[in-house]
Amino acid sequence: MRRQGVVMLLAVARALRPVARSTRPKLRPKSTVAEAESRFITGHPDCNVTPYIANLVGRDLHKKSAHPLGIIKDRIEAYFEGLETSYDVFDGEDPVVTTTQCFDDLNIPPEHPGRSKSDTYYLTDTELLRTHTSAHQSQHLRQGHEAFLCTGDVYRRDEIDASHFPAFHQMEGVKLFSEAEMNGRTDFSDKEAWLASPECDIVGKDLKATLEGLIKYVFDDPDLQTRWRDDYFPFTEPSFELDVFYQDEWLEVLGCGVIHADVLDRCGLASRRGWAFGLGLERLAMVLFAIPDIRLFWTDDERFHKQFKEGTVSTFKPYSKYPPVFKDIAFWCPESYVENDFNELARSIGGELIERVENIDTFTNPKTGKTSNCYRITYRSMDRSLTDVEINALQDSLRDEAASALSVELR
Ligand code: PHE
Repeated sequence: MRRQGVVMLLAVARALRPVARSTRPKLRPKSTVAEAESRFITGHPDCNVTPYIANLVGRDLHKKSAHPLGIIKDRIEAYFEGLETSYDVFDGEDPVVTTTQCFDDLNIPPEHPGRSKSDTYYLTDTELLRTHTSAHQSQHLRQGHEAFLCTGDVYRRDEIDASHFPAFHQMEGVKLFSEAEMNGRTDFSDKEAWLASPECDIVGKDLKATLEGLIKYVFDDPDLQTRWRDDYFPFTEPSFELDVFYQDEWLEVLGCGVIHADVLDRCGLASRRGWAFGLGLERLAMVLFAIPDIRLFWTDDERFHKQFKEGTVSTFKPYSKYPPVFKDIAFWCPESYVENDFNELARSIGGELIERVENIDTFTNPKTGKTSNCYRITYRSMDRSLTDVEINALQDSLRDEAASALSVELR
């Protein structure tokens, strides 16, 4: 009986999932060591890449010139092509990087939460799916590139809603300044003095002017309202964030800053200074094309793709709006419980049919000290109506797997 249910579930799920290239992800209890299945699922005890995630790697949406992400990327590259500085353009680096590239080279300390297994997809203890395109800054600087753009897919374990997907795309930009632009300065050994210097100010001002120009170009609006806020990144100092005012709302569009002295030192560039920025392509594309849900970028549906043309920013017309199905699940959590593990499990089972996972109630029993969480799962397809039978099958599977793989006690 149960076996049959699982077989049917697999068949249903396979038929439903528009994105996965190969078969539906196999569910694997957490305690089992994965057999080597792909380059990304290594069998290493630290490997937390699921088949669902492995299937997303290599889709190269940013390289498709008639895909909204490719259109935005081309537009940004066109802006930089029009500037005086010439930028080398990269978009094909391997998303598998080392902890050195992604973190250590960038001053990100070992205890930083972004390095934890609950936030990041590891292949082994030292290899991971890059969490940002900044992972390639140092490598290109060491190779001698003085100004470059670098676009790619990045991966983060995260919450699930209309604007968060475990894979998304970023573009990194880096520019070093010449000795002449730094007023002949090459000795930056006094770090305090550097931060207070007019040259540091020159780098920051050039960064801000370049990026304001970029955003106005991309939005095709010279009067677009923007604002700068101070921010913090371990690999830039000072660091800033740029917001744009769009449809009555301030939207955060990018992070940036003056490259941290330690980062340049490690690249053998102690005598040089420059800036770096990183921007999220989905964020911009959702706004510019009026794309309401981040899952749409990954669809194979012709009704999505035929709306876009190389070189053109157009308004997306939703081809349908199918009704959502809500399902709640509540359980007592073991001490080791991490919310992203549950999000991951939901993604593995429901794929893109899951629109949102929302924690609607958390409760700690004062006597036992045990914590219960209740999640509301929103199931909705971008492409068709869902049936009760298939959603119940997915929800049952989620309940079973939560109990076995995450050791939660269902309520
Ligand atoms: N890597 C940062 C992020 O992902 C963005 C950034 C890039 C900030 C370069 C500063 C400089 O949020």
